[in-house]
Amino acid sequence: MKRVPVIAANWKMNLSIKEAENLAKELWENAKDIDDREIIVFPSFLQIPAAAGILKNTNIGIGGQNLYFEENGAFTGEISAFQLKDAGCTHVLIGHSERRHYFKEDYETVNKKIKRALSSDLKVMLCVGESLEEHENGLTEMVVVDELESAFKNVNMNYLENMYIAYEPIWAIGTGKTATPKDASHVHNIIRKTLNRIFGQKAALEMRILYGGSVKPDNIVSLMKQDDIDGALVGGASLEAKSFISLIHFDK
Ligand code: PGA
Repeated sequence: MKRVPVIAANWKMNLSIKEAENLAKELWENAKDIDDREIIVFPSFLQIPAAAGILKNTNIGIGGQNLYFEENGAFTGEISAFQLKDAGCTHVLIGHSERRHYFKEDYETVNKKIKRALSSDLKVMLCVGESLEEHENGLTEMVVVDELESAFKNVNMNYLENMYIAYEPIWAIGTGKTATPKDASHVHNIIRKTLNRIFGQKAALEMRILYGGSVKPDNIVSLMKQDDIDGALVGGASLEAKSFISLIHFDK
């Protein structure tokens, strides 16, 4: 089955408003004719309006890197699903390993965030992946399956077309070490089987599973050749227009 490839940029806690605006402009100029893949950028919260000013209603989606699961109220420092949408977001990243590890987001929190985002009509990119220690101890499958099962607890099947998974081995994020295409493909296959078990074959076959972790212009092609790898979530190499544009055009 053919799944539309997705190339996504996670700008993390980088860029000034002006830099984000310039990057968004360059991306738009170089991607406006693309209709055979999805492109999404995840700016930090304060950069979202600048990026949305350029990209809203284009073929490039805009997402928050996080959100809070309550609807509104006294939650100082947090951002709601409504506020993300109000600022122009179509997407949100949930469960990035940096959130799970530095900010102690647990399984329950990730699950609540997914439910809030989906019921608020945001498309969700759920990140899963094992640490170096887990990887070295052969625990990758266990960790990834646990993360998926807990994240999808009581998630309504009707929303699945708005879900993406990003497999990001933590030891590959920002380190320059990438999982080999074969190893990444093996984990993507486990993820798809797990989705099949939780939601059935149709959802499992349709859901896009991205790889993330030191994706660069020189390794994206071999990753994207793998059957179960449907896209890339890119951190470092998405901060420069030239490299992200070449990632978007990976097969051209
Ligand atoms: P990286 O980050 O491409 O810099 O490794 C990927 C991510 O954390 O999403």
